[in-house]
Amino acid sequence: MTNLPELVSRLQEQLTSQMPDCAEAVMHLPSAVYTSEDRFQRERKALFRQLPLFVGFSAELPEPNSFRTMTIDSVRILLTRDKAGTLRAFRNSCRHRGMAVTEKSEGCAKRFTCPFHGWTFGNDGSLIGIAQAQHFPGVDKKDYGLSPIAVAEKYGLMFLQIEGDGPIDIDAHLGGLEKDLSEPGFQNWRLGGRNEHRANVNWKLFMDGFCEGYHFNTIHPNTLGAVVVPNTHVVDIFGLHARELFANKGLQEFTARGGGRPISMGGDVALIYLICPNLILIALHSGGWHAISIWPDGAIDRTLVSQTILVSDRATAEEQMDYIARANYIWEEVIKAEDFAVSESIWSALKGGDLPDMVLGRNEYPVQHFHRQFNRLAGPA
Ligand code: FES
Ligand SMILES: [Fe+2]
Repeated sequence: MTNLPELVSRLQEQLTSQMPDCAEAVMHLPSAVYTSEDRFQRERKALFRQLPLFVGFSAELPEPNSFRTMTIDSVRILLTRDKAGTLRAFRNSCRHRGMAVTEKSEGCAKRFTCPFHGWTFGNDGSLIGIAQAQHFPGVDKKDYGLSPIAVAEKYGLMFLQIEGDGPIDIDAHLGGLEKDLSEPGFQNWRLGGRNEHRANVNWKLFMDGFCEGYHFNTIHPNTLGAVVVPNTHVVDIFGLHARELFANKGLQEFTARGGGRPISMGGDVALIYLICPNLILIALHSGGWHAISIWPDGAIDRTLVSQTILVSDRATAEEQMDYIARANYIWEEVIKAEDFAVSESIWSALKGGDLPDMVLGRNEYPVQHFHRQFNRLAGPA
């Protein structure tokens, strides 16, 4: 990352001042932001239907004719790479009577035959064949291809937008982060694994938890808290999004020695990109990243969290194994074992009407930033 030295020097100043980058003031957040069904319906529309959403790395559809399916907040999606290598997205619903054209989560296929009555679609969405077509006089195959969804791919990242005619402008959406996210060359990296977790909480509680380091020493004393220096983080806002750099304990030793060696991503600092509305991109190391996406799952109190691990083509096999093991450790021991229980406890308080509001400190800056964006896009609760 070309401006890493400048960010690191800002972090080094914080090691002395003990004052992280902060929001201007404390923010009061009405509990209805989480509990109002009306607000939830507006979020689904404004955030999860009308914004570009990250749906994976290019490496997850590695070759022509690869496909993947997913469900985004009740919308079934079929992502394909056609024979020319072009990424496409469709609603995974047969245009005859709506059966999913494939139930597989991923694979390779040039065509999809609907299991119900056998209509067949190409991986470019076209309807190729109507079973017993003599019974469908006047039905033109051109009118019954799979319903397309706008999709775009750049820098090894894939985005789709469920509503709107597209095209998606990834650079415009990234709001200045495109330089950072183009540098690693993700288009040549490879998939290191995936994880999923479902929980009965409002999706924003998981998002909030990933947006601040205020809790590292208290909730994660033996995991993240043992590695990260408290009260330090450099925050920069890029349109809807934010970038956070945390100081690890290695940075104290680096600073005491006056530099003299390259900064180690993961050892000295941890870099996190928070992409609105629901993506956390973590640079575990310069050669290993993981993407955590948080999805409402069809109801105000249902959430799906998915993790995708990506490893650099330039890393050795041993290094790749190490990054994958680290990402899985963070998933199991930090996120699942420590963070998720907090969100569940907060959801109990909110459901019970225990809190009129939440109060977000100046140091919970990215949490405040996201709630400002959500309020602006979906309207206040
Ligand atoms: S619903 Fe697909 S062929 Fe009938
Ligand atoms: Fe946490």
